[in-house]
Amino acid sequence: MTQLKPILSHLDPILSSSTAAGKFKTSPYNLHRFRFHPRLTLWSFLFLLFIFIFFFFSPPSASSSGKRRSLQTAAFSPKARLSYNWEIKTRNSARTRSGSGFRVLVTGAAGFVGTHVSISLKRRGDGVVGLDNFNSYYETGLKKARKLLLEREGVYIVEGDINDADLLSKLFEIVQFTHVMHLAAQAGVRYAMQNPGSYVHSNVNGFVTLLETCKDANPQPSIVWASSSSVYGLNSKVPFSEKDRTDQPASLYAATKKAGEEIAHSYNHIYGLSITGLRFFTVYGPWGRPDMAYYFFTKDILRGKEIKIFEGADHSTVARDFTYIDDVVKGCLAALDTAKRSTGSGGKKRGAAQLRIYNLGNTSPVPVAKLVSILEKLLKVKAKKRVLQMPRNGDVLYTHANISLASKELGYKPKTDLEAGLKKFVKWYVSYYGSKKKSAI
Ligand SMILES: NC(=O)c1ccc[n+]([C@@H]2O[C@H](COP(=O)([O-])OP(=O)(O)OC[C@H]3O[C@@H](n4cnc5c(N)ncnc54)[C@H](O)[C@@H]3O)[C@@H](O)[C@H]2O)c1
Repeated sequence: MTQLKPILSHLDPILSSSTAAGKFKTSPYNLHRFRFHPRLTLWSFLFLLFIFIFFFFSPPSASSSGKRRSLQTAAFSPKARLSYNWEIKTRNSARTRSGSGFRVLVTGAAGFVGTHVSISLKRRGDGVVGLDNFNSYYETGLKKARKLLLEREGVYIVEGDINDADLLSKLFEIVQFTHVMHLAAQAGVRYAMQNPGSYVHSNVNGFVTLLETCKDANPQPSIVWASSSSVYGLNSKVPFSEKDRTDQPASLYAATKKAGEEIAHSYNHIYGLSITGLRFFTVYGPWGRPDMAYYFFTKDILRGKEIKIFEGADHSTVARDFTYIDDVVKGCLAALDTAKRSTGSGGKKRGAAQLRIYNLGNTSPVPVAKLVSILEKLLKVKAKKRVLQMPRNGDVLYTHANISLASKELGYKPKTDLEAGLKKFVKWYVSYYGSKKKSAI
């Protein structure tokens, strides 16, 4: 719409002075304006001609020519105007290698976990369509590089927001998705103090918009989505089990993930959607997230910049259950594979549906100081460290997953220890920034 703005603003005076038809005819002032602005009339004519040509030649909807409304919305999205054949790309991307494969919509596909999950699904023969709004929470160049990586694997990412209900229904018109892997979210604990609205926008409103589309779809897809270990908040019983209390979030991020779990419960209960929530524990690895400690520590250590290491009161240790990306991806795929079908159709529940929640962690918390010493060893650079007391910014002191439920029901068995995983991350980091922008190292 932004490209139409200059034309629309040019038309504004004409529209506002002619909205009341009577006034237009009787007011000599308006008549005077009309007569003596032939350029405005010319612009109006050109604008109407443009609209006519645009709709006349826009490609017909794949599944039904009667679905003009959503086609218009999608066609007006900036991405669609840049790429006329986005529908074709979407359909091709959703194609499965064999008849029995899944057709999965992966939201947040240009994100860290979304990229890895999409590649794994595609490589094993499933059809995958990505959706991502490429927001600038962290470097968009990295998201675009992941997009290129996915394109090489045959996965197309539609650029759009999960709050765009018309775009979502259009996607479900083009492809009958069997599953939705919902990873789009505003991540990060500390940023919630700067931009709280972005958490509500993506993690609450966006999730509801997506579930609305899923419940209306026929057939309804099964949904697997990313919750977070942060829902355990101030829970002090370790390791964290799915049965532990999750009603004491320490950050707005955690509160929106907890809200997501409750929202999932209601959509499962009312509409028969099959929904599985996965509580990820500090996922790390190649193509990771620049806002996470392992990533910015690497950057700062290489630049010779001081890094801040937090500790709790009385010098207590801050530790995380770091989980390597490949292990998390296996957990995601196992959740998709074991997901039962949704029972509703066209917005109506037809029976009880599956509702699950699992921890996906590594079960071995590592102190942040140890993380730094591993990085020093791998990077062969001594870090400039400053130890500080952890500020009250939403972070918790300690995370530790009990994964017995995921192991029993999903066959989930994390294999990668922190040193082995960081080795792969550092190798990727050096090659990515070394080849793309040396200044980042
Ligand atoms: N990485 C972790 O350690 C971790 C831990 C716990 C939970 N999670 C959850 O896992 C999921 C994936 O995390 P990640 O690390 O890949 O994060 P990420 O930020 O790399 O990926 C999220 C992607 O979603 C996109 N997005 C955000 N809001 C959107 C919207 N409204 N519409 C469309 N796209 C939108 C972003 O552009 C981004 O590419 C998230 O839900 C996150 O909250 C991650």
